[in-house]
Amino acid sequence: MIHPNSPYKRIWDLFVFVCITYFAIEVPVRLVFHYKLSAGVNYFERAIQIVFGIDVILNFNTAILKDRLLIHNRKIVTKTYLRSWFLIDFLSAFPFDLFGGFFFQYFGVTDSLKILRLLRSVRVFELFKSLRLLALGADSDDRFKLVEVINPMTFRLIFFVYWTSLFAHWVACGWIHLGPDFLPDKDITTRYIRALYWSVTTLTTIGYGDITPVTNSQTIYTMGVMILGVGIYGYVIGNIATLLSNLDISRVTFQEKLNTIDSFIKYKKLPPNLANRIRSYYVNLWENKHGIDETEIWNQLPSGIKIDVSMFLHNHLISVVPFFKNAPEELKREVVLELKPSFYMKGDVIFREGDVPHNMYFLSKGHVEVIKENSGELLATLNSGSFFGEMSLIDDSLRTATIRAGSYCDVYTLGKDRFNEILKHHPDFAKHIQGIAEERKRNQSSKSHPKETK
Ligand code: CMP
Repeated sequence: MIHPNSPYKRIWDLFVFVCITYFAIEVPVRLVFHYKLSAGVNYFERAIQIVFGIDVILNFNTAILKDRLLIHNRKIVTKTYLRSWFLIDFLSAFPFDLFGGFFFQYFGVTDSLKILRLLRSVRVFELFKSLRLLALGADSDDRFKLVEVINPMTFRLIFFVYWTSLFAHWVACGWIHLGPDFLPDKDITTRYIRALYWSVTTLTTIGYGDITPVTNSQTIYTMGVMILGVGIYGYVIGNIATLLSNLDISRVTFQEKLNTIDSFIKYKKLPPNLANRIRSYYVNLWENKHGIDETEIWNQLPSGIKIDVSMFLHNHLISVVPFFKNAPEELKREVVLELKPSFYMKGDVIFREGDVPHNMYFLSKGHVEVIKENSGELLATLNSGSFFGEMSLIDDSLRTATIRAGSYCDVYTLGKDRFNEILKHHPDFAKHIQGIAEERKRNQSSKSHPKETK
């Protein structure tokens, strides 16, 4: 049994999709213009029918994915296929012209049965869906992982364009079929282009009226197309408008957020400098993180995925913080899961000397300055990969210095309780941090009492 998500099946589906599209375009044109195919094209079309035939056989041998369960049972697979797509697939694949000579002559339908090949177009919906998702390898429990290769909104847009173009083409062919004397002295291309023009102007409800129905059947057809046109036009335009506005939904949400912030600033009568800082914080949020609130997404994820995602997301942090690089895997996982992201702009005070400590910080991007509040002395500049805020947590005291962002900074915070717990369970981590804290303390006291250390 073939796995329905196997990469080979996907490539095959893509191939079948291209073949269906070819027939969906070519068959109606041939039916209305009645031209003869060259030998080469004839072979090509036979080949496509063989592809369709092979597809029927493959479908009998492809397992079914139902409610995330893979059904291999041949009986069920056969029954399901027979009840669903088999008839359509069979009719479009069966070479009636080879086997049904008698049938054709008897009923006098010859060529018209080729229209059965169009039946397959209804399967395009399903195939289209599968094209959006690309299968990548098999995972441990024999399921193929599906990866979205096209954004769903863009995909829907492509789908609309595909279907409306195909539909306009069919309507144009129908028009030619009903009026064989439509521009009889012109060549096929001109007649087709004019008919397509009629189809598009009627479907889009523009209807210039330069091409008008003459016979009764044309008039009835035109009315039908007009009514369909209004429906399709409304549906398509409505959907496209929603799609386009949704394409950049994060920007729209962000803009709405800025408006709310502006109203808040006005309502609370905040001074201009504070208002500007709030605004620039949000503009930075947009520029650096595309307005995505990581914490919100975070809270919704189940813990199993959370660990893997956080390991992936904090890859950079783990690679820049020297301590993490050599830390055991369990510690990394434990710490990484508890980290909360935030960022600061140049000049922002992250905390002040004398504050009550709540967190320890890991600096993933940018640099911060460690400043003594009363003297204004710069004790140190910490670069990406450093951590700070550990001293007061270890000593259970107040912050020993002020930390100010020297540039834009991405930081991750670890809450006090989790910090203490992790220190308890990982003595190596505790020793490492305590060692650095001791060193910093010595450095602080040597700077505040320079003579004593001499
Ligand atoms: P904490 O006392 O919680 O708050 C201020 C932080 O600045 C402190 O923890 C250390 O992480 C950091 N710090 C203090 N002194 C120094 C120093 N001399 N060099 C580097 N970092 C320091």
